[in-house]
Amino acid sequence: MYRVIRVPPGKGEEVREKAVKEKFLDTSRKIRKLQTVEGAFLEIPVTEAAGEKVGDFPVVEQEDPEFLKTPMSLKEYLKDVLSETELACVPAGWQILGDIIIVGIPEILEDKKTRIAETLLSMYPKCRTVVRDFGIEGQFRQPKRELLIGSGTETFHKEHGCFFKQDVTKVMYSKGNLEERKRMSRFGEGEVVVDMFAGIGYFSIPMAVHSRPKKITGIEINPESFAYLKENIRLNKVEDIFVPICGDCSKVTPEGTADRVLMGYVGTTHHYLGPAIKALKKSGGILHYHETVPESLARTRPQERIRKAAYTLGKKVEILETRRIKKYSPGVLHMVVDARIFE
Ligand SMILES: C[S@@+](CC[C@H](N)C(=O)[O-])C[C@H]1O[C@@H](n2cnc3c(N)ncnc32)[C@H](O)[C@@H]1O
Repeated sequence: MYRVIRVPPGKGEEVREKAVKEKFLDTSRKIRKLQTVEGAFLEIPVTEAAGEKVGDFPVVEQEDPEFLKTPMSLKEYLKDVLSETELACVPAGWQILGDIIIVGIPEILEDKKTRIAETLLSMYPKCRTVVRDFGIEGQFRQPKRELLIGSGTETFHKEHGCFFKQDVTKVMYSKGNLEERKRMSRFGEGEVVVDMFAGIGYFSIPMAVHSRPKKITGIEINPESFAYLKENIRLNKVEDIFVPICGDCSKVTPEGTADRVLMGYVGTTHHYLGPAIKALKKSGGILHYHETVPESLARTRPQERIRKAAYTLGKKVEILETRRIKKYSPGVLHMVVDARIFE
């Protein structure tokens, strides 16, 4: 477990100095400023040596730790083992999910991949497995990954007060969507919600946990993701409001009942706008529509697609918000549009 103390910003320096002096500051992680509904505070990473409490501040578990660059970079660790050409190709970043490191390694380093994995494990002693990433494929959004070191690829992590269990070789989990998962957790209170592309519950579990909709239906086509969705519903104790359905949302989405519909899928999301709009109550509701789109069209094409689909069904549209989630690929953005559909 990664430990932190949360302090008001005005107390930050005093507590940090105490942590340095008493040697319980964890220098491998960043000190972060967080904004919550209760106000702003600083998270100061500490080691086990801090005990249960520091002054008036309890030591709590940190859910999504951010690591500082280790004193030596991966390249520096490998400088005596790799040639100049190979060193130039050493990965500069990786994802840590629970106790698993996920790293992209170029072809040229094929025969050094185990050495790279061993080095990464020595840099992050709390991790136990390293997998190589080859990207995400197909409609099921399945990652292509190779186990390099370690025994298991199933992991469990806590994020924003929610538990997620998954197998990193079977399902994707995008770090870049973290803010959107948090944003979704603020919507849906007392509403009927449909998540058409539920995955393992990326967006709908945070919503179920934090906003407690009246009912939330999560639809997922990939049986492997669906199995984790069911497990995550149980782990987060939201069985009473969460109905999982395994199937194709273009065929099984319930019609005419929802106040809000989540469309957290990219590539061909616009093909599903018809069923999404039909899922809303006759009087209307809100869509959260995702699209990957060339940068120059990011503020026009997704909105036009929503309008076109709504007009075809005799509905009106009010665009509430257009947000950039992340850069998806060179020149392409992952956007989300919040739109109100009404009669
Ligand atoms: C890309 S994932 C969502 C990723 C997520 N937003 C995150 O934070 O990492 C979208 C999910 O939609 C599922 N899916 C794709 N087409 C579907 C369909 N027609 N019906 C139901 N689920 C579908 C995929 O299997 C996948 O699990």
